[in-house]
Formats: sequence, structure tokens, C-alpha cells
Amino acid sequence: MHSPLLDLCPRLGRGLRPLPLVERPTAVQPLARLSARLGGADLWVKRDDRSNPDYGGNKPRKLAWLLARAVARGRRSLVTAGAIGSHHAVATALFGGRAGLRVCALLTPQPVTAGVRENLASHALLGTEVRLVPGTGDLPAALGREMLRRTLAGERPMLVPPGGSSPAGTLGFVEAGLELAAQVEGGVCPRPAAVVVALGSGGTAAGLALGFALAGLEVRVVGVRVVPRSWLPPVLPRWLAHATAALLARYGLPSALRAAARLRLEIDDVQLGPGYGYATPAARAAIERLREDEGLELEPTYTGKAAAALLDRATRAGPRTGPLLLWHTFSERPGPGRDAAPGAHLRLPPEFHRFFGPGPAPRNDGR
Ligand SMILES: Cc1ncc(COP(=O)(O)O)c(C=O)c1O
Repeated sequence: MHSPLLDLCPRLGRGLRPLPLVERPTAVQPLARLSARLGGADLWVKRDDRSNPDYGGNKPRKLAWLLARAVARGRRSLVTAGAIGSHHAVATALFGGRAGLRVCALLTPQPVTAGVRENLASHALLGTEVRLVPGTGDLPAALGREMLRRTLAGERPMLVPPGGSSPAGTLGFVEAGLELAAQVEGGVCPRPAAVVVALGSGGTAAGLALGFALAGLEVRVVGVRVVPRSWLPPVLPRWLAHATAALLARYGLPSALRAAARLRLEIDDVQLGPGYGYATPAARAAIERLREDEGLELEPTYTGKAAAALLDRATRAGPRTGPLLLWHTFSERPGPGRDAAPGAHLRLPPEFHRFFGPGPAPRNDGR
């Protein structure tokens, strides 16, 4: 499958070719009704929600590279982590399983919604080896124990950091940045003044900023923080971009280091609200607006907050801001858990059963 990153850095492809998980390029579309409602702001969306027909969003782009690396290195299992509703954990289980790897996910509690239950049910159906970890502060030790146990058992596990945000995973979004640059060049959309995207583990925003800099595309990336600073210190996305650039430089692309020195990456701290996974009134309103005006499905943890930041900017500055593009990172297609039979969650270890009842969970739009 054609890769704009391998065109730029052919030596990378000799050791590592991304798995064909992404239907590239994903579409870029105008948000016409929303723009008109906001008095002429020029708003666009990048449809990564359709990046893969089985499970889209931002995860297939990272996993295409991460899984290629695991397979190339003869790893037999993956150990990763996230919250109980993590889309990254579901995508890793789905695509990792298809690549013939066992998948273990260490999961921490978060506010329960229908979407969270759905993702846990996906693990029940996919056979992910899930373990409940009390809090994010316990993850480093738990990951270390899990990796040691599996290494001693001869499994050759690979550690996939939360959100898939290692330098190898971030390559997927450098590639995505090059993809948008080619779309701008080809006249598919105007050059955005800013790309607005949710910022969780940081690889999506960092990779995009590096990709734009490499392509010479003057675009500001606004990473909308959806996790507390203690999980993602502000310096981390920049470090990730530099580490990814260093990886590319080792494969014969020294210009990546110069590109990393001129990143245009800003963090928007105002949308987080009470914390990770808590729906804010602004996110709820943005979810409703984009559904009504544009037929897009967002969720309250990531894309609802990113859309709230987009609306806020467009409302405050109007057309003067120039075109703004929302990078849609949430899969349009639900995971297998959406269709799980009642009681499927009973296949999960007993400590997870408390997240399933009694009564319905709040809907995925936070209501
Ligand atoms: C739907 C969705 N959007 C955005 C993000 C954030 O991406 P990143 O972790 O690369 O910052 C995530 C991460 O899990 C996600 O699941």
C-alpha cells in the first residue's frame, strides 16, 4: 500500500512497512451548515472516523506501524494499558489479534457510559486478557510485572504504551500530516490556519505537527487536552515529536530533526473540565451541534471536547481566524461489543462485572 512517509524516507521501508490498516487518504469535507450558523467561519473536518471499515478513528494509523514492528521483531504478544473505555485497547485487541498476537490490556476505572460498557464487551468477545489496575499511578509497576512475567514465560511480549504513543506509533500521524499536506496541495481543501484535535497520550497531535513541518505546511496544531497534566505533562508531545524525528533521522531523513525544531503545536487546556472521561456542558453542546448540523457522531471523552474547542475558536474570532479543521479521531464503526448478547461481559474477570449494572449507563453523548 502506498505510503507518503515511505516516499519521503524510503530506507524506513526496508526494515518496516506499515500494515495496510488505513484506507488512505481519508476524506476532508466542509462543515457547511455549521460554518453558516457561525456567521461565515470556514470549518472543515478530516474523516479519520472512517480510517478503517471495521474500526476507524486514530488508532489504525498508529497500529499499522506498531504491529508491523511487533511482527518484524518476532513478538508473540502485546501488553498495553488504558482506561476501561479505551478505544486504543479495543483497536489493539482487534488488529493485534488479526496479526496473530495475544493481547493483554491493563485497564483503570473511569466514569461508566454506554460506550465504556461497549468497549469492555468488545474485550469479552475478542478474548483480550484484561486486568483491572486501581489507578493510573499503579500502571508503571503493573506493566513492568506483566512484561516480566510474559518474558520469563518465553512469550517475547512487546510493550505498547497507552494510546499507542511511542515514536513508532507516532509515525502513523507523521504520515497523516503528509497526507493532509498533499490534499491541500491538490486543492481538496484550503490550508487550515489550525487543525484542532483531542490530546490524550499525545501521539496524534505530535505526529501531525511533525508531518506538517516536514511537508512545509504552515498549520498550527491545537491539541485539546482531555487528560490531566499529571498524565501528560505539557513537554511530552514535543518530546514525542523529537523522538519520532530522531527515529526518522536514523533511517536517513535528517530533515526530520530540523522539522521538529519548528513545530507549531499548542495545547488548549480549557476543555478538560472535572477530568478524563467526564462530559462537560460544552462537549455535550458540541456533540449535539455536530450531529444536528453535519450528521457526525462524536463522544464526550475526546472528540466532544475537541469540537467544543473548535466551536469556541470559531465563535470568538469568526472568519478572521482562517479555515479551521477538526481532526475526527473517533471510529464511526462501533467495536464488536455494540452487538454483544446480554451477559457477554460475564466472560471478563469478575472484578470488571461491577461496571455493568444495575440499570442503564449514561448514553455515549454524556446525557
Ligand atoms: C477517540 C480518540 N480520540 C483522540 C484520542 C487521543 O489521541 P492521542 O492519545 O494520540 O493523544 C484518543 C486516544 O485514545 C481516542 O481514543
